[in-house]
Amino acid sequence: MKVVRIGDPVLRQKAVRVEQFGEALKQTLDEMVVLMKKKSGVGLAAPQIGIPERFFVVQVPGEQPIAFVNPEIIETSLETVDFTEGCLSVPGVWGDVSRPASVRIQAVNADGKMFRLDADGYLARIIQHEFDHLNGVLFVDRLKERELSKIRKKLEKWEPSRK
Ligand code: NI
Repeated sequence: MKVVRIGDPVLRQKAVRVEQFGEALKQTLDEMVVLMKKKSGVGLAAPQIGIPERFFVVQVPGEQPIAFVNPEIIETSLETVDFTEGCLSVPGVWGDVSRPASVRIQAVNADGKMFRLDADGYLARIIQHEFDHLNGVLFVDRLKERELSKIRKKLEKWEPSRK
């Protein structure tokens, strides 16, 4: 298992729902947590390891990792906040992204059990970033023009179709 980088078409696909729960999925989720930690990341989505399916893991530093399978964001706050993001699939790039301050998410865990979570702060931020990955969206797509202009050359090299 390794992290794929921007330019790989899998990062631009709309991921499909998970239909098969069981040991294979659990093991993949466990391996994703290990890989995420190794890379000092706080979130990792299946497309980032080349699997175009709807699941991701997140871990706020100092807390337990959480796995989300077939997640749905069912509510977002009207209030938005700016926060600097980066991504393991977009090396060396960081930038401010505006997103809702809090979200309510519904998902299935590694055991196939449905749960709901109200998240704010850093957790809400990570969840929204990872959820974007399932729809083929990268945080650089959400940068404001001012920040985007600084990295446009890099992005066009990675994704010539941007031009
Ligand atoms: Ni990312």
